Amino acid sequence: MCGIVGYIGEAQAAPILLDGLSRLEYRGYDSAGIAVYDGTDIQVKKATGRLKVLSELTHDGVTMPGTLGIGHTRWATHGAPTDANAHPHYNSTETIAVVHNGIIENYLKVKKRLQDKGYEFQSETDTEVVAHLLDYYYKGEPIEAITKVMLRLEGSYALGIIFRDHPDVLYAVRKDSPLIVGKGAEGNLIASDVPAVLKYTREVYFIQNEEIAVLNKEDISFRNVDGEPIEKEAATIEWDINAAEKGGYEHFMLKEIYEQPKTVRDTLNPRLKDGRIVIEELGMTDEEIRAIQKIHIVACGSAYHTGVTAKYVFEGLARIPVEVDLASEFRYRNPILEEGALVIIISQSGETADSLAALREAKTRGIQTLGIVNVVGSSIAREADKVMYTWAGPEIAVATTKAYSAQLVAQYLLALKFAQVRGTVTDQECEGMIGDLKKLPEQIELLLGSKERIQRFANRYVAARDVFFIGRGIDYAISLEGSLKLKEISYIHSEAYAAGELKHGTISLIEEGTLVAAVATQEALYKKTISNIVEVRTRGAFVMAVTNTGNTEIEKAADYVIYIPQTNRYFTNSLAIIPLQLFSYYVSVGRGCDVDKPRNLAKSVTVE
Ligand code: F6R
Repeated sequence: MCGIVGYIGEAQAAPILLDGLSRLEYRGYDSAGIAVYDGTDIQVKKATGRLKVLSELTHDGVTMPGTLGIGHTRWATHGAPTDANAHPHYNSTETIAVVHNGIIENYLKVKKRLQDKGYEFQSETDTEVVAHLLDYYYKGEPIEAITKVMLRLEGSYALGIIFRDHPDVLYAVRKDSPLIVGKGAEGNLIASDVPAVLKYTREVYFIQNEEIAVLNKEDISFRNVDGEPIEKEAATIEWDINAAEKGGYEHFMLKEIYEQPKTVRDTLNPRLKDGRIVIEELGMTDEEIRAIQKIHIVACGSAYHTGVTAKYVFEGLARIPVEVDLASEFRYRNPILEEGALVIIISQSGETADSLAALREAKTRGIQTLGIVNVVGSSIAREADKVMYTWAGPEIAVATTKAYSAQLVAQYLLALKFAQVRGTVTDQECEGMIGDLKKLPEQIELLLGSKERIQRFANRYVAARDVFFIGRGIDYAISLEGSLKLKEISYIHSEAYAAGELKHGTISLIEEGTLVAAVATQEALYKKTISNIVEVRTRGAFVMAVTNTGNTEIEKAADYVIYIPQTNRYFTNSLAIIPLQLFSYYVSVGRGCDVDKPRNLAKSVTVE
């Protein structure tokens, strides 16, 4: 995700901002910028690419005098990674500068209102509306303007703000995006993450939702959304830089597993408006949606697994036939692509060579393409006819978790949108499913809360030789991902099977003590899966089952049961995958593997 640093003190701000931003590089970014008040004006310098470019441009900050400033590393969300879209953003008179993390969900509406009032925009970002909105409400009193802006913004934000007319104050505010304040010996700082301030201080304040921090050289004070003063206690950070980068988690993978409620919320919320699904960036008319005859979902690895789930969801809800292909197969199999087809390419990185080639193949055939992509401005995002972004933020662990979850919900939204337009679900059903989608983030949180139980279970299987994952329908798709997660980070041989397929060969591999993970979240197939559990158990398997709360009957067949909260049958993957991710993670940790960088694997596979 993006990084924020701000400084006010005795020292020159720019070198401190650059240093702070460099401590946030691990979070991933595609452009950077700083704004410094030079005694007369607010100067802004931005650069696309690595922070090094910005450092060279400013001679390591030396050529930007001033002791008040804000800095930002941007991971593109709204608008490509360009200098114009990089932060900080100004108001029109360049008297207010803003850096922002998060997503302003109602930015188009706010932007339109501001444009109607004569405001001109220089970027495609959601952030620029904040600068102009502050300008609109600013009548000489920054706190008043900030609180008014807070009341008008929907979505998530952490903001660092400076006003030319108040050169001895640095303002910061947050909602659903992290922000901390550091109390230094020679000045005070703000940052989106602890590592950025550790060189200067270990004394920090954690800003809570809808709180404002007001920093001077010596003092720090806090206000609530009504502008009233509030008291906060400083905390002392004991972590070292390494642990701080991971937000206190032992590995990026665990941190990213824990980020999933937010990822799912960020991907869903901007598209759920007044009980309806609005996917603005899709740019497809209802007529075009109704004209779709067939969907081809094409992807690699875990992204492909989300496609296997989505096949059930699109077919079940929107009644559109779906074919799912591995991109490396699709590109060479001369697929039959007919008029009325829609090819959906799913990719976290947007750079996977096979997925990109599959996209180009579809385009050459004149077929409409849609990318579901996490990295804004990536090759697939640029080349696909339409793009729907997942808002997972940068994923650092090689094994995907939060991007996978974001890809799933993006496809649920799309399927439900198509179903709504094509009239294959009633308004009432749709409303119920939107309600279920909205509950997913807190249900994921609930599952994450029982990590110790999964950890204890995982510890028993660190020495396993083979593990089998079985399930039917969507449960088979979940099994595919559960199995991949385990093998890629723990190096234990594991395979996923459609549960009914076992007896056609694989069951001969089951022996005394073999671990079989059985996923049984689909009510209609539940009894069938129980029969398969019994089959392997009679041959000596130890069965771990993942099923819905209330399905206690399974306890008679399985040895160990993990329950997931009730949700719509099409959305169970989003919940069932959480314990399987945790299981893989703890097995990998128990075996002493390099969890975040498993052997032989790369995060972005740009070769065939
Ligand atoms: C597995 C994993 C990979 C990716 C695959 C596609 O944990 O991360 O299987 O899902 O390499 O990558 P993207 O989504 O970047 O196209």
